[in-house]
Amino acid sequence: MQLNAEELLIISKIALRIKALLGLHFTENRFGDLARGVTEAAKELNRSETLPLVLDWLNQSGLSESELKVLSTHLTVNETYFFRERMALDLLVEKIVPELLSGKKQITIWCAGCSSGEEPYSIAMTLFDNFSESECGRIKLLATDISERVLNKARSAIYSAWSFRETPDSTRAKYFVPMAKLWELIPKVRKFVTFEYLNLVADPYTLDHIPVQNVDVIFCRNVLIYFEKPTINAITRKFYNCLSSEGWLIPSQTELNEAYFPDFKKFYFGSNIFYHKTNLQKQAAVNAHRIENGPTHLPMPKVIKRRAEPPVQPKKTEKTEKDDAPSLTVSEVVGMYRSGQYEQIVRMINGWVNNDPADMAVYTICLQCYIQLGVVSDTVIWADQVLKRQNVNARFLYVYGTYLLEQGELEMASKVLKKAVYLDGTHVLSYISLGHLAVEQNNSSRALKYFGNAINLIDSGINIDFVDDAEGMTRGDLRNMIMHFIELLV
Ligand SMILES: C[S@@+](CC[C@H](N)C(=O)[O-])C[C@H]1O[C@@H](n2cnc3c(N)ncnc32)[C@H](O)[C@@H]1O
Repeated sequence: MQLNAEELLIISKIALRIKALLGLHFTENRFGDLARGVTEAAKELNRSETLPLVLDWLNQSGLSESELKVLSTHLTVNETYFFRERMALDLLVEKIVPELLSGKKQITIWCAGCSSGEEPYSIAMTLFDNFSESECGRIKLLATDISERVLNKARSAIYSAWSFRETPDSTRAKYFVPMAKLWELIPKVRKFVTFEYLNLVADPYTLDHIPVQNVDVIFCRNVLIYFEKPTINAITRKFYNCLSSEGWLIPSQTELNEAYFPDFKKFYFGSNIFYHKTNLQKQAAVNAHRIENGPTHLPMPKVIKRRAEPPVQPKKTEKTEKDDAPSLTVSEVVGMYRSGQYEQIVRMINGWVNNDPADMAVYTICLQCYIQLGVVSDTVIWADQVLKRQNVNARFLYVYGTYLLEQGELEMASKVLKKAVYLDGTHVLSYISLGHLAVEQNNSSRALKYFGNAINLIDSGINIDFVDDAEGMTRGDLRNMIMHFIELLV
């Protein structure tokens, strides 16, 4: 969304108001997303969608809970998938749950910021795979989010292939029933999870007016990145108070920052860090053993090897896509992407062969659609065709190179990512992916060089367009994450 100077001023006021209302922090490079989100929310509530009137509305005191819910639904990033950051699940079944079950009759796990349910259902499936029926019967699993839309999706428990990008086929076959191109979770797992609305910025945490307390394990992953440090500290303090005396807090490995968890003790599990309330000294020996014997790899994108699947053939439409394409702007295509119209975009772009620079943004969206549709061969064939274009840019190369890295195609990934930094020496995310690639190739010194380049670029303060591809991270979040990768290497 293109904003003029006057709109920028208004949207910066809206950003402050949204931070006060929902805690969500929008940096300037996400003002387009913010403008789009608030206007969509205004539209859904039958209010005027012009930005000055949206600001007037938000400035009213006492917005109703239903208005806040609609705003949250349009302003949150809900990206998630099954078995994300699996190491946390390993810790749960190897240590946390056995210890808790041996000392307590009933244990409670809370998944805070659960999005469309992939995370809590992964926890449930892992518990069913590792514990007896009667042990699982002693575990309560609560999942909460601020977005009603994702909560409804979670309750319906029907998922597309993209949610399974890290799920073994055998697990999907065991717990899901196929329906057309989708999969429905079996009732036993669905019933195991209770989904509720809860705003993590609200105070205190209650469900049906009952305080949330005596929780044994809190998963809160890929949620804190959307808040500023004071809000994060307030949330982790509330988590501390909700936890039982031996409770655990499981953040994402991309959200690690000493300053966020001052009340907690660190616990190393392999190279991963989690937090708990017990005395660190009691755990020191266990931790030392873990560090010595656990895996030493860096947290990095998982290498996903997918089965070969038949290519998605663009469907024939009555009008030629060439006729449709020029009438759409880049932001309209972005809108289609956000509403999940991946196949439609792929069909449309297939017939669109203009060579103007604006197309490259659209081609990148199309690549992301191919990735979302999950058929590796289609994605690679199409992306390789685009690479032959003269105006291919660093962002397209970054998205493609990182995808190849995730597929384990290290040589091709290296070529593509190196071309990205050759074309744009300030492309921070490409340097980070090159660092991960070097780690995969067991070349720590090269990884350090690339991570160092990324830090230098962030610190140089130059205007870097990285946020779109960094799941909404701020510059500071990204810096902390890279510093964590560096710490693990040195
Ligand atoms: C990127 S998703 C992460 C989902 C899942 N935890 C995972 O790691 O895959 C972030 C989720 O946090 C939720 N969220 C954002 N702000 C929130 C708030 N103030 N209270 C509760 N949930 C919030 C969003 O609605 C979104 O579903």
